[in-house]
Amino acid sequence: MLNLLPDDKSPNAILDVGCGTGRLLRRAHERWPSAQVVGVDPAEGMATIARRNLPEATIHVAVAEALPLSDGSVDVAFSAVSLHHWRDQVLGVRELARVVRAPGLVCVADIVLPSWVGSMLGSRARSRSTLQALFHQVGFTLLTHRSMFLNTIHVILARRAPAGSGCLTSAWSRPDASHGLMDTLTPAVPMKVREEGQRN
Ligand SMILES: C[S@@+](CC[C@H](N)C(=O)[O-])C[C@H]1O[C@@H](n2cnc3c(N)ncnc32)[C@H](O)[C@@H]1O
Repeated sequence: MLNLLPDDKSPNAILDVGCGTGRLLRRAHERWPSAQVVGVDPAEGMATIARRNLPEATIHVAVAEALPLSDGSVDVAFSAVSLHHWRDQVLGVRELARVVRAPGLVCVADIVLPSWVGSMLGSRARSRSTLQALFHQVGFTLLTHRSMFLNTIHVILARRAPAGSGCLTSAWSRPDASHGLMDTLTPAVPMKVREEGQRN
């Protein structure tokens, strides 16, 4: 996931939502040692291990749906294989939009299932199209969408646009700064944004 981000700018603050034991945060800290690293996870046990693994990080015991962070306080937010656990994914992604300062980035990886499989399993895992729709719905601009591990894990990189602006304003927001990943993006415009809960 870290490799999807452009090399030419350093974030001041990085957030990992559903950080678990802090593996991703540790890698982020190695890549951007001067950045403030913040993790959020509702499981006390995970938070304890994350704090032990990365004493430099600030780890909060909290859910994505109520992030204990100020508006516009991070430059990049990650979340790895956690979204399908969130009770209210729209609220969680809205929280990402609130805490990421424009034109910051979010990079979210999660399990993706065909809608009929998700329904059958009673899983909150989304399909490819409803995953994209979730980020559109909240106002993110998708930069890339990749799949891996036999199409089971999808990674979305999206930009938090400045309020009222469609402009690309920094290296963080330039598609070419993301290693030419735009060619992997499923055409998202025009895109029918589906109602929450509708699967496809
Ligand atoms: C499969 S683990 C992934 C952990 C870590 N991101 C990793 O890649 O190793 C999913 C994590 O999501 C957390 N989680 C569950 N519900 C959550 C919520 N509503 N908001 C944020 N994190 C949540 C769990 O506690 C767990 O640590």
